[in-house]
Amino acid sequence: MTEFLAAAQAAARLGGAILQEWSRKFTAREKSPANLVTEADLASEEAIAGYLLERFPDHQMLGEESLNRTGNSPFRWIIDPLDGTSNYVHRFPYYAVSIGLEEAGELIAGAIYDPNRDEMFAAAKGQGATLNGESIRVSDESLLANAMCMASLPVKADRTHVAVRKFLNALEAAQSVQRSGSAALNLCSVACGRIEAFWSNSLKPWDMAAGVLIVREAGGAVTNTSGTLFDVNIPDLLATNGAGLHGELVDVLTRES
Ligand code: IPD
Ligand code: CA
Ligand code: CA
Repeated sequence: MTEFLAAAQAAARLGGAILQEWSRKFTAREKSPANLVTEADLASEEAIAGYLLERFPDHQMLGEESLNRTGNSPFRWIIDPLDGTSNYVHRFPYYAVSIGLEEAGELIAGAIYDPNRDEMFAAAKGQGATLNGESIRVSDESLLANAMCMASLPVKADRTHVAVRKFLNALEAAQSVQRSGSAALNLCSVACGRIEAFWSNSLKPWDMAAGVLIVREAGGAVTNTSGTLFDVNIPDLLATNGAGLHGELVDVLTRES
């Protein structure tokens, strides 16, 4: 496990350095409307995949840009080489590299690196979560009325979209609801107690894998927005500090109107 966690962190740091190197010279294009990609996303993914493959040649790998390596190994790395591309393109410094590892479908290690703040969040199953090597824990706020929350909305969601309705309902119930542009960093913010909750119905495995383990290992709760079993392959996530406000949010997010 130590070897896996060390590799995840080293690979995330490697990807982060590449993002910062490209930040002065990248060009952006749309993969689909308002869904951006840059040379930095691709270069970071290539470097991370190369690093991990050299150490674990038989492992499976899934990365956002062009990485889908299948095989018989029970291990699968789930990689977002740049989470927060839109922020990156606008030079808003809230983006990260996210690397999770599954063994037989169970999340066992994860690292998320924020190169702007030089913050490395990491966790291994059963061993707790850390920020730059120091143990972290979720906040102990239990009331939604006192909670700061974040939500991810689909790109280009219009005002009639169900995710927008959920966002507005939560806005009335929580102290504040923000939208930040990096799901991975939102999960880290839940884990270290900077915010109380984060939810989305539009994320991919690479947005969530590492962060979900980091939240759990920091003492938080991760379910789907209905309050039942979370599955990294299904875009339905509610991550909180695990206090009473988790149930309050399930009620708010499943409200019919
Ligand atoms: C995006 C971010 C954002 C979320 C989007 C994701 P990307 O990832 O995590 O917070 O709302 O759904 O696609 O595209 O920047 O890697
Ligand atoms: Ca992402
Ligand atoms: Ca990405």
